[in-house]
Amino acid sequence: MTPPAAEPALNQDFSRYDQVRKAHTYRLAEHESDAFDEDFEIATLDLEPFLRGDARDRARFADAFGAALKEIGFAVLVGHGVDPALYDAMHDGVLDLFTSTPLEEKMRFRAQRHGSVSQGYFPIEETSEIHPDLVEGWVWCRRAFDIPQKRDAPFRTEDFWPRAAYELYFRRLVLAHEALFKPIAQAMFQGIGCDPHAYDAKLTGTNFGLRLNYYPPMSAEQDRSGAGRLLGHEDVDLFTILPATRVEGLQVWNHRSRAWVRMRAPHGSIIINTGDYMQRISNDILPSTTHRVGKPADGTHVEQARVSFPMAVYVWENEVLEVLPGLGPPKYEPIKAVAFHTRSTSKFYGDDYAVESA
Ligand SMILES: [Fe+2]
Repeated sequence: MTPPAAEPALNQDFSRYDQVRKAHTYRLAEHESDAFDEDFEIATLDLEPFLRGDARDRARFADAFGAALKEIGFAVLVGHGVDPALYDAMHDGVLDLFTSTPLEEKMRFRAQRHGSVSQGYFPIEETSEIHPDLVEGWVWCRRAFDIPQKRDAPFRTEDFWPRAAYELYFRRLVLAHEALFKPIAQAMFQGIGCDPHAYDAKLTGTNFGLRLNYYPPMSAEQDRSGAGRLLGHEDVDLFTILPATRVEGLQVWNHRSRAWVRMRAPHGSIIINTGDYMQRISNDILPSTTHRVGKPADGTHVEQARVSFPMAVYVWENEVLEVLPGLGPPKYEPIKAVAFHTRSTSKFYGDDYAVESA
């Protein structure tokens, strides 16, 4: 169990790691005095007209998507074309992976840096060095899947997976989402008045991080400790694709009301949020918004596990992140993605995580 800290840690205690401007202050862990914004509605938008419509349909979607993201950095998409049955299957697969793989087997795949990304298994309370969260996680990048890419050596499933069948299983999700990388980026760029195709080349065969999260039911002791499920953080990526979860808990920081918005997304929808890479290249127009996972309001966290499977979209380590043209005087210097990424995430993994080249 984790006793509550006497002085709750604040995000600003770690601001030296930030590679984009984050002016607000919040407690990393949940706190009884946290304010909730019950009025703000995160926009739910239909992606289909952008995927299959004409220029006017695309412009209408891009405007609405851009406006939602500028406001809060989050939007919910329906009409994305991914079969909800795939998400149901992934939910079951995540439960199976975490509950049927023995701990010693999981520990053989303990997370370590591969390029920019900390890839592998994260035991409970060890998602980061800064806060003991009540979640187990497992991250796989592109290199862990038998899909097209440049490799130095032949692909070996056993280097990444406790059972080969899991690679095949979760590959279905990766391929379904990879088809959405460019359309989503194009709509974002169009929505802020930039060239929609600015990142088409960078996103062709790009790197990503599929993260599977398993939040076990909380013990009475953990529940009493006041601990949440996952600390407040911002994503270090271009954007994240998160299929709606069966169990609620995602909370999003509203910078206007300075309160947390409870995410409610319909079954089969996907939640999109912009991350630090996007804030940087959009010159702060698209925010990397703080979010966390708290206890569900109905108290079911003591009997029910929670599962999620977000996919973070990256560019490869040697790409340069540079403010896009047309967005005013750049607030940031160009920076190599690997330096940007590892300097940011050394907040979670320790100062020696930061590197300048892959
Ligand atoms: Fe996140």
